[in-house]
Amino acid sequence: MSGWVLSDARIATMAGGYGLIEGGSVVIEGERIAWVGAGSVPPEYDGWERVSAGGRLVTPGLIDCHTHIVFGGHRAREFELRLEGASYEQIAREGGGIVSTVAATREASDAALIEGALTRLDALISEGVTTVEVKSGYGLDHETELRMLRTARALAARRAVEVCTSFLGAHAVPAGGEADAYIDEVCIPALRAAKAEGLVDAVDGFCEGIAFDTKQIARVFDVAHELDLPVKLHAEQLSNMGGAQLAARYGALSADHVEYATEDDAAALAESGTVAVLLPGAFYTIRETQAPPIEAFRAHGVPMALATDCNPGSSPLASLLLTLNMGCTLFRLTPEEALLGVTAHAARALGLSDRGRIAPGLRADLAIWDVETPAELAYRIGFNPLHARIFGGKR
Ligand code: NIG
Ligand code: FE
Repeated sequence: MSGWVLSDARIATMAGGYGLIEGGSVVIEGERIAWVGAGSVPPEYDGWERVSAGGRLVTPGLIDCHTHIVFGGHRAREFELRLEGASYEQIAREGGGIVSTVAATREASDAALIEGALTRLDALISEGVTTVEVKSGYGLDHETELRMLRTARALAARRAVEVCTSFLGAHAVPAGGEADAYIDEVCIPALRAAKAEGLVDAVDGFCEGIAFDTKQIARVFDVAHELDLPVKLHAEQLSNMGGAQLAARYGALSADHVEYATEDDAAALAESGTVAVLLPGAFYTIRETQAPPIEAFRAHGVPMALATDCNPGSSPLASLLLTLNMGCTLFRLTPEEALLGVTAHAARALGLSDRGRIAPGLRADLAIWDVETPAELAYRIGFNPLHARIFGGKR
């Protein structure tokens, strides 16, 4: 096999921290990185084609590890209601919120679901995203949950991007339904069917007063483990329900939102190696005032990821670069922590060990930026300095 060399680059390998290499090269062989370092490349690559990065910054391709980009309709009316004083929880309890998107998603054709999702996916890709997680959870019936996951899989066939799917049947109780019956009679059978069809990479849930309690989520997680699927959880977003502790007990890949997580929760997440996925777009949109316990996560060594949570209600945000800025400004992450959050730690939140850093053997998913320093990626607002994106070794 042969390949090519990306030379004259300032490389943020994201090994540990920025892991900067000045005047570096990345040797790309097929879909993989064969070599990375400063100075001249090893002689065996001497005859390979060279492409100069022109001194630009090269990072791993960005990873958005928490999105809900497949859905029907929009929730602009809900945005107006919140401006008139209604809260996110009130709107949900009165039949708006997630269940209103469920109605629109059930009505949408397959073509409309794909088209809507592609618009959002293209926005993410234009900012250097090479891997994106996509959840179900706006179907809440057997067929629509599966249809959402098929749509997510279809996206990967249409764009140069990897899509990881999460089954989120336990997202909300459907209108007219009852939580326990829904979990046992709809959610769990749909999960089994989705797994049998090869549609699921991980299993998610929403543990909250307006959704499901820890016992109900545990029933879904037991089935996930029986099916050999990793779990993750929307936990402690609006209150502390014990979701982070539950996630830790099940060895979850991630606990997401976690504004109301405690120091004990941080200790439990650290112990189980669970990533805290921070979602500043949702924090901002619903005007939450309690920030996640960043200091406790740091003190206990909990890896922190950042994601858009792109969805029609709590986070109509399709920019991972703006998410970096929000993570720093709203949660006081350092730009280095923020960039780790959309590369190395985001990969970990998806259980992927073959990406998120620039190192030999890993996937050649890269982003080349018209900036001098990595902190610039988080610092500007409404700027897209992406120069080029490389997915699986291909520009
Ligand atoms: O991650 N927290 C639950 N689920 C989504 C919100 C979905 C919606 O409002 O439609 C979230 O914020
Ligand atoms: Fe979410």
